[in-house]
Amino acid sequence: MRRVRSFLLVSCCLIFISLSAQTKKIIIKAGKLIDTENGKVLSDQIIYIENDTIKAVGNNIPIPNDAIIIDLSKATVLPGLIDCHTHITGQPSGDYYGDIFRKTPVDDAITAHIYAKRTLDAGFTTCRDVGSRGLVDVALRNAINNKDIPGPRLLVATFFIGSTGSHGDLNGFSPYLNFEGPKEMNGVANGVDELRKQVRYNIKYGADVIKFGASAGVLSEEESVGAPQFTQEEMNTIVAEAKLWGKKACAHAHGTEAIKMAVKAGVASIEHGSILDDEAIALMKEHGTYLDADIYNDEYIMSEYKKLGYPDKILNKEKLVGQAQRESFRKAVLAGVKITFGTDAGVYPHGWNAKQFKYMVKFGLTPMQAIQAATVNAADLLGWKEKVGSITVGKWADIIAVTNNPIDNVSVLENVQFVMKGGVVYKNEMTK
Ligand code: ARG
Repeated sequence: MRRVRSFLLVSCCLIFISLSAQTKKIIIKAGKLIDTENGKVLSDQIIYIENDTIKAVGNNIPIPNDAIIIDLSKATVLPGLIDCHTHITGQPSGDYYGDIFRKTPVDDAITAHIYAKRTLDAGFTTCRDVGSRGLVDVALRNAINNKDIPGPRLLVATFFIGSTGSHGDLNGFSPYLNFEGPKEMNGVANGVDELRKQVRYNIKYGADVIKFGASAGVLSEEESVGAPQFTQEEMNTIVAEAKLWGKKACAHAHGTEAIKMAVKAGVASIEHGSILDDEAIALMKEHGTYLDADIYNDEYIMSEYKKLGYPDKILNKEKLVGQAQRESFRKAVLAGVKITFGTDAGVYPHGWNAKQFKYMVKFGLTPMQAIQAATVNAADLLGWKEKVGSITVGKWADIIAVTNNPIDNVSVLENVQFVMKGGVVYKNEMTK
């Protein structure tokens, strides 16, 4: 009996020793640290990480002697950035019709990992991906979670839900041409019953969030850019069904009426939000709806999309919303609408996500507020407040660093030199 007991004791000790030997301990010495929760810049902070989690932060915390030390004492350290509007599985190749008709989701699947890596290297450790083809987003998210490939943490929407003839449908071609794949994989649905089924289908196959087209759009061939494309009842149905399954919904919406309808339906965020009037702004405030406006996008579309083979009717639609969207953004900021950070990367090259910060500052935010939009606010929108968005105890160790202080010049975020996600360093041009 005594032998059994001492055997148990010895094995318990061994298990304990090997467990603690497996604990990876990291200390980051941060010259400056952006406290996104309180909107402050702190000096000479130490971050203590065990495995993938932040365990302590402060200027006087003990340094375990078996910890790996990462010296960022000459840098500004901040939480990993969050982009709430990406299409990370693709970007235009320069052949508009070729991309639509000759590529399949398999093509997207082959290249998606490249874009995921570029996005992570740019300092974006989390993205909400709001629409892709063929469940490539689900496969990408899972491969990243399994650590098969590097990339940001992803919350994905699977299929964009749109009505017949909408921004999410394929328009402008003869009805005698039939391009339909598996029905639900088009995301085209109408009426309460079909919409409930589509939401369920998306969730069944892996959606973390539901995205639908409340209004027409730019990069599609229907006539309007901002007209509503669902009835109020249809929008209510989509949001209610998503909620039933514990998911939030977001709405693509450029036009004023569609924005108001989607807000009333209860979406968590308005994507684009191009043409806001006072009533729309008041409604967003009342409902606590986030504005997720891609206000760098116009720059790239107007300078590159003609060369990329996009038809004039699309470029003409962009002219109707591009500048108006920025003015709407300014008004929303002044009125105190909740602002998050979403770029629509995929319309422009992945990895360029941070170019939007400059525009957010130009159109009304302070650099600190722009950073908060891409960290604490984004985390709140995603329902991940406890996990990401700040360098605080208990959160995942998603940490980036830049040489200069982005509070002085927010554009320095376009060149992130250190990226850690979940305690793993993916990029370090700092301590070389
Ligand atoms: N995906 C959006 C659409 O096609 C892009 C809008 C880009 N334009 C802009 N000004 N944000 O509608």
